[in-house]
Amino acid sequence: MKKELIIGMAFSAAILSSCGPTTPQLGKSPINEVINAMTLEEKAHLVIGTGMAGFSGDSAVIGKTKKLVPGAAGTTYPIERLGIPAVVLADGPAGLRIDPTREGDSATYYCTHFPIGTLLASTWNQELVENVGKAIGNEVLEYGADVLLAPALNIHRNPLCGRNFEYYSEDPLVSGKIAAAYVRGVQSNGVGTSIKHFAVNNQESNRMAVDAHVSPRALREIYLKGFEIAVKESNPWTVMSSYNYLNGVYTSENPELLTTLLRDEWGFKGMVMTDWFGGKDAVAQMEAGNDMLQPGLDRQYEAIVNAVKEGKLDEAILNRNVERILNMILQTPHFKKYNYSNKPDLQAHANVTRQSATEGMVLLKNDNQTLPLNSNIQKVALFGCTSYNFIAGGTGSGNVNRAYTVSLLDGLKNANFQVNDELKNIYLKYIAEENERNKPKGDNPLVKFLPTPLPTEMALSADQLSNWAAQTDIALITLGRMSGEFVDRKVSDFNLSKEESKLINDVCRTFHAAGKKVVVILNIGGVIETDSWKNLPDAILCAWQAGQEGGNSVADILSGKAYPSGKLTMTFPVKFEDAASSANFPTEGAMGNLSNMADPKEKKSDVKLWDYTDYEEDIYVGYRYFDSFEKQVSYPFGYGLSYTTFEYGNPKVKTENGIYTVTVDVKNTGTQPGKEIVELYISAPKGGELNKPEKELKAFAKTKELNPGETTSVTMEVKAFDLASYNENSSAWVIDGGNYQFLIGASSRDIKATLDVVVTGGVEKTNNILHLQSPINILKK
Ligand code: BGC
Repeated sequence: MKKELIIGMAFSAAILSSCGPTTPQLGKSPINEVINAMTLEEKAHLVIGTGMAGFSGDSAVIGKTKKLVPGAAGTTYPIERLGIPAVVLADGPAGLRIDPTREGDSATYYCTHFPIGTLLASTWNQELVENVGKAIGNEVLEYGADVLLAPALNIHRNPLCGRNFEYYSEDPLVSGKIAAAYVRGVQSNGVGTSIKHFAVNNQESNRMAVDAHVSPRALREIYLKGFEIAVKESNPWTVMSSYNYLNGVYTSENPELLTTLLRDEWGFKGMVMTDWFGGKDAVAQMEAGNDMLQPGLDRQYEAIVNAVKEGKLDEAILNRNVERILNMILQTPHFKKYNYSNKPDLQAHANVTRQSATEGMVLLKNDNQTLPLNSNIQKVALFGCTSYNFIAGGTGSGNVNRAYTVSLLDGLKNANFQVNDELKNIYLKYIAEENERNKPKGDNPLVKFLPTPLPTEMALSADQLSNWAAQTDIALITLGRMSGEFVDRKVSDFNLSKEESKLINDVCRTFHAAGKKVVVILNIGGVIETDSWKNLPDAILCAWQAGQEGGNSVADILSGKAYPSGKLTMTFPVKFEDAASSANFPTEGAMGNLSNMADPKEKKSDVKLWDYTDYEEDIYVGYRYFDSFEKQVSYPFGYGLSYTTFEYGNPKVKTENGIYTVTVDVKNTGTQPGKEIVELYISAPKGGELNKPEKELKAFAKTKELNPGETTSVTMEVKAFDLASYNENSSAWVIDGGNYQFLIGASSRDIKATLDVVVTGGVEKTNNILHLQSPINILKK
């Protein structure tokens, strides 16, 4: 041994003996000393979760530590001797998902079910979403969790994706901005988030083994853009990789995605974890930069330990991942020994969800100012099973164990409407019978995660309807849809059933004949068919799934106590087949093979799997397709009415330092207060090397509340590089120089003002990554 080394060792021993414990402690010692003090086995434990016996996640075996938060999805491995605590990871987007009751404990642990992601996005109000995030994050903190497994911001590529309700939009700008606001809100509590599912998890069918074939251009412009915005604008603590393959490689095993793009190009500094049981090759995941594998399996642990021992995995890579995990843990309430109360202010949060929900409801139709209901409308005939069983949100990990759900029936009663009793009793009896009949059979634990079938709408006779039309002042009909994780919706779920169509037809005919109006309320998580029946009722309110206070929020809107100010963040097509992605979307609702969870490649059953999806529509997702190819739609992207009207005036654009600042005056020209969402689209010059969509959303803003007659000036900014398209041939973002149109609109199909802008060209190189393995048939205009 060299002399210097001996002296050095003696010196450090002297320091250690004079400074207390000889074992480094997280937070007190430099992080590399903590890592150096870890055994290989400890490192391998830390990079995988502590396992999960049941789907509720409450059976985690966490070393010597007791269960931390029952019902949380996962925990990290504690190493007490190094001062590394276990930290708790819990779902999800609409509020914290933990078990509401605990064995041998009379206290309850209910969480607030806030509105679903789609509703939050439909507010287009980043400040509001940030406030909802603050309330959600407070429950995370006060119930002893550390990282919320949300927000979820995959693109609404197709109306049938079973998890669209958790996601935000068909547009990446809306998705990214709303996600960033949500992250800022949650994280302001000193807890973390996990933006998910990175990336291209746009279908549930065979989600753990489907290979999404997507061009680098569509990836960069559509599927990754929202994540890029969220990473750059909100610094989420963690990112969750997705289940699927992307161009032949599992996202969780893909260094181009998780390192070259996420870290090198976007500057992400946090930690990446898998989705639960995602991917296959633990060593490849470690190398790719997927720092933590959840919920953790013995075979993953063994694979990592053996690979290091056999020289197949460089321990430096393991150390790198461990360091990122430790940096995450350092920020957590558990590390900081936060003394959580288990008593968040649920009443205050009920008010937050009730009020915020109204802002994301979208008024699709309101003939002759049917809404708000005028004060002499008191007696209500309430139709549709969902009116009585209002849906708070979707199923699966996006569900929240709430204490209650306010139905529309309850909401109307709370607002002092008189709901026809005879009709109510018929419905309640019928629903109870149907629910009994549809009750899931067997004790498969997965069942509670799956969408439950809703009762078929019942047949009501012409006489019955005439009686109720005579006895009441108005008819309300709710159409409901249930969707959730593991399964995509079917085309029949997009369309109305024949019983639903008949109900709408019969009620409208009978009530109109009696001089009474009909309002349809959509209690849905994703798009349904509206074109064939929208001419029948007087008003249509898309209430989405508005969380536990949903019935109160809708009643607030109907009564005029609140007003709707949401707009659609996705297109409502005329027919399902109209969406360009429908040609390549599994429509059978096949779940894939769940027995493959432990090893998705091992096909254990003969279920026909949907092995790959070609994203042939490429960049033409949603309005980018419908508007470029001039397709008729039922309701366009960005559309939504208000109880008042707005006039746009004085549009201007100014350019300075590569930033285009657009201003426009918005005046409330109606008789009710309201807020208007202003959308800025850009139409690029055509004829260059790249196909350009007819228009693309590049900025948006929502006014403050405007009283009748009041005017406000709205400002929206666009950076020069926001105008660029991605050129795969040169691996660069390219701004074509030339004449652009800046379109200020109330929807993608309602442009109020057009500004001509001369734009200078520019190029920004990127890494040449994420290629298709073989060409697909890409849609071009
Ligand atoms: C979902 C994730 C969720 C995780 C933990 C998975 O099935 O895809 O979104 O966070 O479970 O519950």
